[in-house]
Amino acid sequence: QSTPVITIDGPGGSGKGTIMLRVARYLGWHTLDSGAMYRVLALAAQKHQVALDDEIGLVRVANQLDVQFTAQPDLSDTRAILEGEDVSVALRTEATGSAASKIAALVGVRQALLNRQRAFRCAPGLVADGRDMGTVVFPDAGVKIFLTASVEERAERRYKQLKGKGMNAKLADLIIEIADRDERDRNRATAPLIPAQDAQIIDTTGVSIEKVVAQILQLVSVNT
Ligand code: C5P
Repeated sequence: QSTPVITIDGPGGSGKGTIMLRVARYLGWHTLDSGAMYRVLALAAQKHQVALDDEIGLVRVANQLDVQFTAQPDLSDTRAILEGEDVSVALRTEATGSAASKIAALVGVRQALLNRQRAFRCAPGLVADGRDMGTVVFPDAGVKIFLTASVEERAERRYKQLKGKGMNAKLADLIIEIADRDERDRNRATAPLIPAQDAQIIDTTGVSIEKVVAQILQLVSVNT
């Protein structure tokens, strides 16, 4: 019997990150924020002056990536330490999200991060969030969730998250940027954003985080 995995996929701002951290804390399992991995790679590429369309250069940076992930104490977000530097604030800007979605469309980049992602699967279990956790990275996961929410609500959540970090953001800009990123993630050739055939789809528009967490834990108790 292999180590159990719960996958939580969905578009940006659907609440995946914080829901993943809470489900994992409840179960005492490990976490993988795969979006943070693409975001950190985008930051590392910029730091090492590798262009976002230089696939060979990006694969080199990915293979040498020195990053540690932890959770914020209030489980609101993932923290990332890149080469010893806390990059948690830069991690969440929409510019970083957009750069991440550009490099995430490159097959070589996805391939380079695949084993690194699978290595997070350790006993007693893993909760992994992203776009292709249930379809590509952990197709044998016991519970697969696909979260959705209206683009307005997702932009509003991102807005609050950025404001909470003391950053400037405009709601109208975020709506456009998030819609653009969704479009790119859904229409790319490799690992596009689509629910796995065996995923449970949960629309989180107007639903509290606590309710979604409870719904997922209910599915976990029935399916594991
Ligand atoms: O979820 P988050 O907004 O942090 O993801 C940033 C970007 O990374 C996404 O827009 C997507 O292009 C990419 N990504 C991906 N596959 C994943 C997780 C994220 O392609 N599993």
